Amino acid sequence: MRIEEKKIFVIIGVAIALVVAVKAILGHYNTTDDPGIPFYSTASKEVSNKALLIYKKNECKNCHTLWTQRNIMQTVPAPPLDGIGSIRTETFFYEYLSAEDPQLILPSRLKKEFQMPSYAHLLDDDRKILAAYMASLKVKDWYLEETRKREYEKLTGKKYNP
Ligand code: HEC
Repeated sequence: MRIEEKKIFVIIGVAIALVVAVKAILGHYNTTDDPGIPFYSTASKEVSNKALLIYKKNECKNCHTLWTQRNIMQTVPAPPLDGIGSIRTETFFYEYLSAEDPQLILPSRLKKEFQMPSYAHLLDDDRKILAAYMASLKVKDWYLEETRKREYEKLTGKKYNP
């Protein structure tokens, strides 16, 4: 074998070793028990599009997190809405959004300016769509306790002790 040929074999050998090593490393991190994202919505495209427009128009994201999004300029410690539909019912959301004084339904620990505002002035249809959408915001079972804990602690400011 000439020197040139030997060099080529060495290079090919090193390349194969590299591919094997990279595959082994990726395989190690890419474990099959990664549980993925726990939140999902059961709403139709139509309901979620309409609801998200109302959500945007009424600046809910000034205080709440939904799909990891919120207004970063605001630091209101309101409960996150991801998974909230696994904790409360559509009727609850409708009544809460329709209440003149939402704090009669869920007492607040915050100053008036940070409390959940009344949305009783919205069109009835808009409150219905928002309520249906909130109820569609589900969380998978393995993350339900954690979601309850976050909601409880944000709402009450107390440690969650089931
Ligand atoms: C000014 C801040 C603010 C805005 C804007 C706001 N919220 Fe809230 N929201 C809160 C706070 C704070 C709470 C917890 C109760 C309280 O302290 O009044 C809450 C509670 C809730 C809850 C009940 C959560 C639970 O723990 O069960 C829902 C649902 C909700 N808001 C939906 C909305 C929707 C939908 C909008 C927009 C239409 C909205 N909020 C706009 C601050 C806000």
